[in-house]
Amino acid sequence: MSDTAGPADTATFPPGFFERSDERDDAIFYGPPRLVQHLDDAAVNAVSAYYDEVGADGDVLDLMASWVSHLSTQPRHLTVLGMNTAELGANSWAHERVVHDLNADPVLPFADAAFDTVISTVSVDYLTSPVAVFREVARVLRPGGTFAVAFSNRCFLAKAIRGWLATDDAGRQDIVAGYFRASGAFAEPVLSSPPSTGDPVLAVHAARR
Ligand SMILES: C[S@@+](CC[C@H](N)C(=O)[O-])C[C@H]1O[C@@H](n2cnc3c(N)ncnc32)[C@H](O)[C@@H]1O
Repeated sequence: MSDTAGPADTATFPPGFFERSDERDDAIFYGPPRLVQHLDDAAVNAVSAYYDEVGADGDVLDLMASWVSHLSTQPRHLTVLGMNTAELGANSWAHERVVHDLNADPVLPFADAAFDTVISTVSVDYLTSPVAVFREVARVLRPGGTFAVAFSNRCFLAKAIRGWLATDDAGRQDIVAGYFRASGAFAEPVLSSPPSTGDPVLAVHAARR
């Protein structure tokens, strides 16, 4: 168990839940830029429609970002945080780019209440201290702001946590909802299955208390 959020949080998850087959420094795996699409077109459109539906706008943080943020329109201010400088540099809508390893340090390098919305696409499965990160997301969100997490059944197998790989789509929604609840910082999470004719899209969002 590597979640650092505290005994009450770690008790929720069984031993080995946050282990990965590649436990090397994430900077090694994410060193080479991947300027690719991680979902098919139908799923990408479903993710954009979902972010519209939850009202992703204003000052937006795209957490675990790459070169596309899957928003339908450019927000007032878009900050992207990820592992690869070239990927973030290619994100043409970003106003601010931050390279930061959330598994090495879950503390977000942003001020309290800096954002209206935080989004994260097909990446939550790589977090080894997710409850600590979700608490940090709540800290940097304005009260009432939304954290929206979208995912699919595709992932980098070597870097996804074992608990994620051991379950199905519904189980993954429960895992993410569990992170929101364990953080103690959000209203009850809302589970969604945005319609996609391609790769499945699952999502969970909640408002910061
Ligand atoms: C499958 S890609 C998804 C990228 C982007 N969100 C998208 O939808 O195209 C996974 C992303 O998670 C980010 N990531 C993985 N591990 C991370 C970590 N420890 N800290 C911060 N970001 C991480 C990587 O930079 C990578 O771009």
